[in-house]
Amino acid sequence: MKVLLVNGSPHEKGCTYTALSEIAMQLEKNGIGSEIHWLGDKPINGCTGCGACFRNRNGRCVFGEGDGVNELIEKINAADGVVFGCPVHFAGAAGNLHSALDRVFYAKISFAGKPGAAVVSCRRSGGTAAFDDLNKYFMISSMPVVSSKYWNIVHGNTPEQVRQDEEGMQIMRALADNMAWLLKSIEAGRNAGLKLPEPEKRITTNFIR
Ligand SMILES: Cc1cc2nc3c(=O)[nH]c(=O)nc-3n(C[C@H](O)[C@H](O)[C@H](O)COP(=O)(O)O)c2cc1C
Repeated sequence: MKVLLVNGSPHEKGCTYTALSEIAMQLEKNGIGSEIHWLGDKPINGCTGCGACFRNRNGRCVFGEGDGVNELIEKINAADGVVFGCPVHFAGAAGNLHSALDRVFYAKISFAGKPGAAVVSCRRSGGTAAFDDLNKYFMISSMPVVSSKYWNIVHGNTPEQVRQDEEGMQIMRALADNMAWLLKSIEAGRNAGLKLPEPEKRITTNFIR
């Protein structure tokens, strides 16, 4: 089993990476593999709402070959669980990760049943708003949300400061333990013949009719 840890920070080895590394270490202790995937520091465009992914129904973004969005879709598809991590930028999730996930989740076919968790890193505040923001992607997608002992936030402006945030580091380890437990529970259920619920035909009302 493998968990994809997405680093949505412009810093490859910064604070978000430090938090994700703690999760990776604890997953390994639980016998679960992982990969930290950095989105890079080049701009990632937001969704243009062109609707091509809806028409094509192929689970890909027509603009996603050059900027890593389709690669991210493939990696999420292949993973048993995902963690999306990013720094807090102006009390919200950092722009690059947000842009990428808007396109991933608009284009996706289904991630139903795949456990997900969000992790954010901030110097001082705005963490819970950014954390809430990222959790929305899981909750509109029938993905079980993995929790910890507190909201998944680490504090610091440098990796050294994040490592000094002992409570934050412990929250990351508890998150990894819970992710491992849920993945093993899902596998046990699958082996026992338990299937995902059959979705009803989708109703879309746009609040008008
Ligand atoms: C554009 C920008 C906006 C930021 N906004 C906030 C903020 O609203 N609250 C906060 O506590 N830190 C803020 N920070 C600081 C980062 O969230 C913090 O340093 C984070 O741990 C960096 O993570 P990274 O090394 O993974 O990029 C901001 C940083 C930048 C570059």
